[in-house]
Amino acid sequence: MILYVNACVRKESRTERLAKALLKRLGGEYEEVKLAGEKLQPLSEEMLDRRTELIERREYSDPMFRLARQFQKADEIVIAAPYWDLSFPAILKLYLENVYVTGLVSAYTESGEPHGLCRAGKLWYVTTAGGPYVPDFSYAYIRTMARDYFGIPETELIAAEMLDVQGYDAAGIVENKIREIEQGS
Ligand SMILES: Cc1cc2nc3c(=O)[nH]c(=O)nc-3n(C[C@H](O)[C@H](O)[C@H](O)COP(=O)(O)O)c2cc1C
Repeated sequence: MILYVNACVRKESRTERLAKALLKRLGGEYEEVKLAGEKLQPLSEEMLDRRTELIERREYSDPMFRLARQFQKADEIVIAAPYWDLSFPAILKLYLENVYVTGLVSAYTESGEPHGLCRAGKLWYVTTAGGPYVPDFSYAYIRTMARDYFGIPETELIAAEMLDVQGYDAAGIVENKIREIEQGS
């Protein structure tokens, strides 16, 4: 199953257009989590206590872990998120907090080393930026989480940039990127 984590916000999202082109190339069938519709909450003390209790009892079938279970069993994952404030929309961080469930997507060895429990072999991170794209606090962070903590060995970045800078042909940049995605280059 391909999991599409959609952190795009605008109806006319260009990031979403790139992600849809990729999903089409990957085979067209996917499960979408549209984060704007998920009513995700920041983890409160009450939620954390409940989560810790459930993890201690290994009750991973609890509805609280629905998104984490889905993430764990995906064969491939596509995350689409616009470049916001050098990073990505906060809702994606909320999603990661909800998904990062110890014992389900990640575990620690006896010597304290993290190792991943996710099935996915590859994660794509799709983004667009108004100006130059700097991956440090978005793709680089997701890549580290994926490889070192979730056990997803391969990651790939697809990015289109300079879309809001005067003098740049935003529509042309997006169309070129879509063509590149379609051709798998
Ligand atoms: C809240 C917000 C923050 C943004 N922050 C940045 C930024 O730090 N750097 C940048 O180059 N563009 C920034 N942009 C511009 C977006 O990255 C750009 O318009 C992007 O293509 C939006 O993606 P979308 O078309 O999928 O919504 C920001 C836009 C918004 C709405």
